[in-house]
Amino acid sequence: MTTDPIWIPVAPSTSIQAAHHITAVFAHDEEIALWRSAEGAPQAWENRCPHRGTRFTLGRVLKGRVSCAYHGWEFEADGGKCSFIPAHPDQPAPRHVGAATFRAVDAQGMVWVAQRGTSGDQPLPAPLPQEMDGRFCRTLSVRVDAIHAAQGLRASGLQERAACTWTGALSGHNVTLFLNQASSTLTMLHAWVASDLNDAELHPVLAALRSLRSRLEAA
Ligand code: FES
Repeated sequence: MTTDPIWIPVAPSTSIQAAHHITAVFAHDEEIALWRSAEGAPQAWENRCPHRGTRFTLGRVLKGRVSCAYHGWEFEADGGKCSFIPAHPDQPAPRHVGAATFRAVDAQGMVWVAQRGTSGDQPLPAPLPQEMDGRFCRTLSVRVDAIHAAQGLRASGLQERAACTWTGALSGHNVTLFLNQASSTLTMLHAWVASDLNDAELHPVLAALRSLRSRLEAA
């Protein structure tokens, strides 16, 4: 089986819009609140307010900050520092209070999140397997753990090229899959195809991906 790579792709970049909503994603056995600052930089935080543990995804993005749904504490982009507490509007927020953050970057059409605690000199998610230098097409959620998902991919004729990265042909077209265990019963499969694949060619590939998911869940 595989070791957890430093960088995990968690969502298509286009699905996370600047200063908009907050999305829950999974990586490195963590639930992560994913959003963008007003400048567009991806933000990945532990989905848990440091005050009373409310999920950040229940809150909203307000003036480039996350406002927690429970008591309205506000947290800054690029570090997660608490900067405003509505119950004490005239007092500065305690300096030590902040969201637990992960490094996050955009690359190859996806937002990638680094393992917790990785230092600033960790290489960005490059070079990636050459096959992933294509067109991101779909994320599938599969109701099995990563070990069984990998076994199913192998049984379906795909090959593991790198940590969590599988390649093979579906419906006659090369496909690259990145396998990311979200929980003990759920695995995410992010799929790339060749960048020159047109929509007519993509359609049967997507159908084949759905069939693949069914096989993995039935195994
Ligand atoms: S739980 Fe988030 S502000 Fe209180």
